[in-house]
Amino acid sequence: MRALIAYLSYSGNTEEIAEIIADKLVADGMEVEMHSIGIDPPIDPSRYDYFFFGTFTWDVGSTPDEMKDFVLEVGYKPDNVAVFGSGDTQFGGDDLFCRAVDRLAKFYNSKWEGLKIEQSPRGSQEALVEQWVEGVLHDVKSLA
Ligand SMILES: Cc1cc2nc3c(=O)[nH]c(=O)nc-3n(C[C@H](O)[C@H](O)[C@H](O)COP(=O)(O)O)c2cc1C
Repeated sequence: MRALIAYLSYSGNTEEIAEIIADKLVADGMEVEMHSIGIDPPIDPSRYDYFFFGTFTWDVGSTPDEMKDFVLEVGYKPDNVAVFGSGDTQFGGDDLFCRAVDRLAKFYNSKWEGLKIEQSPRGSQEALVEQWVEGVLHDVKSLA
């Protein structure tokens, strides 16, 4: 099983979530490749069984342009996309919190509820990331 973790991160929070996800997947025996959106060369989606796409939210609940470009670059809707992201409830409260995560998860008809983390996942929210990955892995194993 090979997974791609592709993330967009300006100030590092979403990247930190991606790293925790990667550690957990690798510990579970999955082969993992990381992709920093807008920085690394384009991906070949056909090489992966599972996809973890991560983004922050900004500009009144918007999905960043780089993330939209990445979606176009992928070019189709793979079956197994799990979505995660970082946001900040100070920007418009619960309605706008991590709205890009909700939008992406809906776009990809994700089987999994999007993971939303307030700013950095380090500390108490680390457990939330790990639980979410465990939930995805549980389904991966039952589908295998
Ligand atoms: C101008 C601006 C607008 C933002 N708007 C939102 C928003 O609408 N919803 C949200 O959840 N977070 C919003 N944020 C917070 C970021 O998503 C949050 O800081 C996130 O952790 C950044 O991720 P990164 O460190 O991976 O770049 C905004 C941040 C900035 C600077």
